[in-house]
Amino acid sequence: MKTFVLNGPNLGRLGTREPSVYGSTTHDDLVRLCVETGKDLGLDVEVRQTDHEGEMVGWLHEAADAAAPVVLNAGAWTHYSIAVRDAAAQLTAPLVEVHISNVHQREQFRHHSVLSDIATGVLAGFGVDGYRLALRWIADNAK
Ligand code: DQA
Repeated sequence: MKTFVLNGPNLGRLGTREPSVYGSTTHDDLVRLCVETGKDLGLDVEVRQTDHEGEMVGWLHEAADAAAPVVLNAGAWTHYSIAVRDAAAQLTAPLVEVHISNVHQREQFRHHSVLSDIATGVLAGFGVDGYRLALRWIADNAK
């Protein structure tokens, strides 16, 4: 099953970006982790990252048209982008919201997500393992 892993702003800098918060895994490592996890689970995983909101909106439209599940780490857009939320709301297959850090242990402005109430489920604080857990759930539950 085609499955998208979509990462938002600043996640391309994983590995060098605040390693005490986000760890030392690079985005290239994360791509490999997701693709290999997908292979083991029978999912055709495509990982993308963008710093441009309109590009993310377009990718969500593509996933909606393909009726494909999405693992979404929208980064900072999580907390305020109604455009990303409105695009994500068009998905018909499962949407798993992932955050590498435990956003609830961090600044107050990270505690609110404009995505969580339309997501199938939310994973936060498990580091990059959150992506593996999300893909596992999709493999077990998405039709
Ligand atoms: C993040 C948490 C967000 O608050 C932050 O803006 C990010 C990454 C995470 O994966 O922990 O860019 O989504």
